[in-house]
Amino acid sequence: MIELLVRESLWMMNKTVEICLPGDKSISHRCLLFASLCDGVSEFANLSPGQDVVSTGSCLSHMGVAIEYGSESVKVRGTALQDAEVELYCGNSGTTARLISGLIAGQGIGAKLTGDESLSSRPMARILDPLSKMGSQCKAHGEDGRMPLEFFASEKALQAMDYTLPVASAQVKSCLILAHLFANEAGSVHDPYGSRDHTERMLAALGAPVRMRGDTIMVKPLEKPLSPFRLKVPGDPSSAAFFVAASLLTGKELILRNMSLNPTRLGFFRVLERMGAKLTVLSQQDFLGEPVGDLQVKASELTSFEINEEEVPSLVDEIPILAILALKAKGVSKVRGAKELRFKESDRIDAMVKNLTACGVSIEEFQDGFALEGGQKLEAAKIRSCHDHRIAMSFAVAGLLCSGEVELDEPQWADISYPGFYKVLQESFGG
Ligand code: S3P
Repeated sequence: MIELLVRESLWMMNKTVEICLPGDKSISHRCLLFASLCDGVSEFANLSPGQDVVSTGSCLSHMGVAIEYGSESVKVRGTALQDAEVELYCGNSGTTARLISGLIAGQGIGAKLTGDESLSSRPMARILDPLSKMGSQCKAHGEDGRMPLEFFASEKALQAMDYTLPVASAQVKSCLILAHLFANEAGSVHDPYGSRDHTERMLAALGAPVRMRGDTIMVKPLEKPLSPFRLKVPGDPSSAAFFVAASLLTGKELILRNMSLNPTRLGFFRVLERMGAKLTVLSQQDFLGEPVGDLQVKASELTSFEINEEEVPSLVDEIPILAILALKAKGVSKVRGAKELRFKESDRIDAMVKNLTACGVSIEEFQDGFALEGGQKLEAAKIRSCHDHRIAMSFAVAGLLCSGEVELDEPQWADISYPGFYKVLQESFGG
């Protein structure tokens, strides 16, 4: 009898975990924003339930876009935006603030954008400077070009330009692509960094006058509204990263269903393969220009990794969880060229270094990254989430490595991208 129970629990331990991921956050924001450009009702299943996407929806609603949240899908009726009578609160979401600014500036809408403490500390000159150059009447009320941002109503079309991104940022790139849809003539945005390309892929697939030529995105003014569209949003690879890490830390096989396989989002998985992780794509299809498939993760021995500047844009949101995985990898892992991490929802280099140090881990900090040796023990500690979902979620996974308790000060930050995350982690990996 006892032997049977032991066998049963061993079977449970080894059973493959299967997870259906919530919709990708980046694609979900874009679904709502692009649906506003359509002349009819678009419909989305598996839209990200995270607070960030809710912020985008709420800002659009305040400018006249009708959004209906159902249990199975979200419907959006597109319309020309109207001046916002109330302040548009973007919450914690840089994607909301930066992408919607492109639409607001392009359509000459009067609006004031605000955000929470974290968003209000993030740089916005990176969008206001180029938008001003295009003729947008806008200003930052915070210090050094920070939020609140104000846009003044205007009838004049923006001036198109040929712009090279000074920072690796898909948010800045997308803001300018959206602004150019309403400019006086064709323009272009040059992205030498290869940041995520959902905006250009999806807009091109929807028939918008947006074309990719190498590293450059050519945009012509939108002559008529887009046709409404439907999409089942593919699973979020950035949320998947936490479960993949949990699988590799515990040795439990994992299958992730319907995950976005957009190559500009897969840097984390490429690093894992270099580390020796056994990953297999089981199937692949395309929806609205976006590749989607199932991914299998098998128990693997890990060796250390090195990441440099060129690779950072493809895994910018996954670096915190890579730092946790480095603890399980043989040798010294190193991240360099990641100074953009200091301008995320928190200063993610500082947050990782301080929290890992609190857990008794020895980690070297650089201005643009960190280095740490694998095999170190993680001790129980109180973790500061720093208003950052990815920090909170990374340390929830780190708890799997710790014999004591890793206590998160504000676990609710996970709701920004993934309400219900801890329950799935607990049920699947016992975290
Ligand atoms: C995003 C782009 C990235 C990423 C963010 C989402 C997007 O930011 O960190 O979580 O949807 O465009 P940057 O473009 O500023 O690097």
